[in-house]
Amino acid sequence: MAIIPDHIIDQVQERVDIVEVVGSYIPLKKAGRNYRAPCPFHHEKTPSFMVSPDKQIFHCFGCGAGGNVFGFLMKYERLEFPEAVRSLAQKAGVVVPSERRESAQEASATSLLYAANELATDFFQRNFKEDKNGRQAYDYLIKRGLTQEMISTFKLGFTSSGRENLLSFARQKGVSPEILEKTGLAIARQSGGYFDRFRNRIMFPIIDMKLRILGFGGRVFLKEDEGPKYMNSPETSIYNKRRHLYGLNFTWKHIRDEDQVIIVEGYLDLIIPLQYGVKNIVASLGTSLTQEQIRFLRRYTKNAVVIFDPDKAGELATLRSLDLLLEEGLSVGVVRLPQGCDPDSFVKKYGPEEFKKRISDAKNLFDYKMSVLLSKYDKTVLEDKAKIVEEMLPIISKVPNAVLKAGYIKNLSDALLIEEDAIWQELKKIRPDYPTTRTKENKGQIKVETRSKKFRQSEKILAGILMDDNKCIKLVREKLCLEEFQDPLIRKIMDILFKCSDQSKKVTPGTLINYLEDSETHSFIPEFVDTLEAVIDRQKTLDDCIVRIKQDNLKEKLNRLQVEIALAQNRDDEERINKLIAECSGLVRSIKAYEGKTKETLQKI
Ligand code: UTP
Ligand code: MN
Repeated sequence: MAIIPDHIIDQVQERVDIVEVVGSYIPLKKAGRNYRAPCPFHHEKTPSFMVSPDKQIFHCFGCGAGGNVFGFLMKYERLEFPEAVRSLAQKAGVVVPSERRESAQEASATSLLYAANELATDFFQRNFKEDKNGRQAYDYLIKRGLTQEMISTFKLGFTSSGRENLLSFARQKGVSPEILEKTGLAIARQSGGYFDRFRNRIMFPIIDMKLRILGFGGRVFLKEDEGPKYMNSPETSIYNKRRHLYGLNFTWKHIRDEDQVIIVEGYLDLIIPLQYGVKNIVASLGTSLTQEQIRFLRRYTKNAVVIFDPDKAGELATLRSLDLLLEEGLSVGVVRLPQGCDPDSFVKKYGPEEFKKRISDAKNLFDYKMSVLLSKYDKTVLEDKAKIVEEMLPIISKVPNAVLKAGYIKNLSDALLIEEDAIWQELKKIRPDYPTTRTKENKGQIKVETRSKKFRQSEKILAGILMDDNKCIKLVREKLCLEEFQDPLIRKIMDILFKCSDQSKKVTPGTLINYLEDSETHSFIPEFVDTLEAVIDRQKTLDDCIVRIKQDNLKEKLNRLQVEIALAQNRDDEERINKLIAECSGLVRSIKAYEGKTKETLQKI
């Protein structure tokens, strides 16, 4: 899609009011200067979703969602950024320059592919009635317990046995073999001509969030047929396997409302439980989850339960594939089904209530992996202990929450009767950048933190003040340069603020977001602004922030110097030691000079 010029984006944002836009989707209640509602992005009883008309942003204190008016639309309507701008531009009467000509062509080529898949789906569905084997295939699905309704909701179908049945049907309807090849439905012969990719298979269309058909999975039906049990469409210009999750178009609302997703592997492992009322479910289609899939899921929930067939559940490789979920900040539960069961057969045999019960009894990934390891290794043997630690550390290191992490380490140390410190040391080896400090507060209940990013208080407040009150930018700029900000996001924000101030461009929290390319960072902006609530004297606080930032940087520099001194001492490098020590005392003097200057305001916030 063509890039929309900045001034158009600004114009659209100036003409719409976030309160009006959000209010057209969910009922808002006035609360002081802001508006409040139950959050549309997670399930809750007491409203923690706020919209600020002054700052033109929204923020949920519960799930951390936040952004400007475009971000709201992107999240609520699941639009890409340009789509959100276009949609609001239409409402605001702003004309967005039309797209490049090539991209119009591209768009029509793409829609041809969707149309071809749609046509093929019709044809496959018809074969249930019109083809002899197709009728048998339909009976087979009914025998496996699918209702007629599910068969039609999921648009299941059948490919008959000829080598060119779909090709000739499509040709009659004006769809060329070249287009079918681009959708993956036909394969070009080396000798010229084409043949159907899928023959004699039960067809499962792969449907995206906009209800378009991206590709297909085909299950063998007749025993004598060759090829794998499931054959899938190849990647095409419209089917990106790394991004897609099967069934999510039908289930995302339930996943969001129940704040939990059940992840299964197969087509029928999704359809059958769904038919029985287990609705917060998606299927990974037999491959391990990708980062893109997980980030997409994370829009709806941070709680995942993965269901394993018993034969896969004991394999460490399978378990390792779940580390990515942890890394992306989800909490992960694991359910192991009884011998011979997959979700499909389990639900049919024991019923949905028992299935749901197994899910609520899911073991967390840490405990589960531990129990698998304890059954494989002997924890009384020293070498085995080391192996267990080695397997467990990657998952522990991927837990973003420090409290949770410390808790896991404690559990591991208790289970294996080894010192916690030894584990911390090993942890540091696999992640050298990891701080070795540990939190003492991990008694009581351990809660999964929804977000892991921590900012320095001083940088965060300073950024918050500047985006809300542009007059102060000049003053800060005189005293601090970009390199003095440690956090990359804040440094980026400062860069934007400085540049806008140079061009005398006004920035608000709501417009600042448009300059941040990484949409993952958008929800932090409302957080910055929220800290301002506690600020009483902005001028004084700003001065304190500047001092504190300088002071912190000096302290960090001092730490680094001390390490260098230790290294020089190891080498007995007298000359270098003296030089470093001199530098050190200079630093200490500067730090002292700042001391006492920042006490009051920052401590209260
Ligand atoms: P299963 O072999 O467990 O099949 O593969 P299933 O889904 O339980 O099917 P039924 O119950 O025997 O009819 C699980 C998933 O792995 C993928 C498919 O997505 C399948 O649903 N798979 C499996 C393939 O992609 N190719 C294969 O050859 C096998
Ligand atoms: Mn099965």
